[in-house]
Amino acid sequence: KRVAIFISGGGSNMLKLLESMQGDHPARPCVVLSNQPEAGGLERAAARGVPTEVVRHQPFGDDREGFEHAVMGVLVPYAPDIICLAGFMRKLTAGFVDRWQGRMLNIHPSLLPKYKGLHTHRRALAAGDRAHGCTVHEVTAALDDGPILGQARVPVEPGDTEASLAARVLAQEHRLYPMVLERFAQGDRRPILLP
Ligand code: GRF
Repeated sequence: KRVAIFISGGGSNMLKLLESMQGDHPARPCVVLSNQPEAGGLERAAARGVPTEVVRHQPFGDDREGFEHAVMGVLVPYAPDIICLAGFMRKLTAGFVDRWQGRMLNIHPSLLPKYKGLHTHRRALAAGDRAHGCTVHEVTAALDDGPILGQARVPVEPGDTEASLAARVLAQEHRLYPMVLERFAQGDRRPILLP
């Protein structure tokens, strides 16, 4: 299976996915694509010999379809079978999602369906939650809402800050996403629930 990874920033999840796709793993990375030219993940991917592409969303303004058309034009020559969104911070329209339905994954830093959208750690702390975590799900047209393929739970500790909680969740993202991708690439959609 050929895997495209979409990033917007540092790409720590992307790096874990790249490191996992080796040996008898059923998938290999075909391209890393970013909407931000200065995304740190681009250099990390290039350093591992993975092709990278940048499609800036800024020139398209609020023309989401125009941006996605440009993404498709860059993406199709790489012939991906699976798209992994990993810290990719652009909403995708139903038109794009439909083209990739059932073949596009995302990782979100909360225990969905709780805390869809942004500032998940801040919201979990504000709610006084004792448990928090991350979710890998199939991408559908609704934001952070598709079938769940994996979840990892972490405790919220007394004195946690948004940063300390985010770090604890991110460490679990790095465990969970590669496990889910390997299972998904074999056509197995049974959810993985950690710890
Ligand atoms: C992190 O906040 C992570 O929780 C979310 O995307 C952000 C950046 O991740 N998935 P990455 O380091 O770019 O993978």
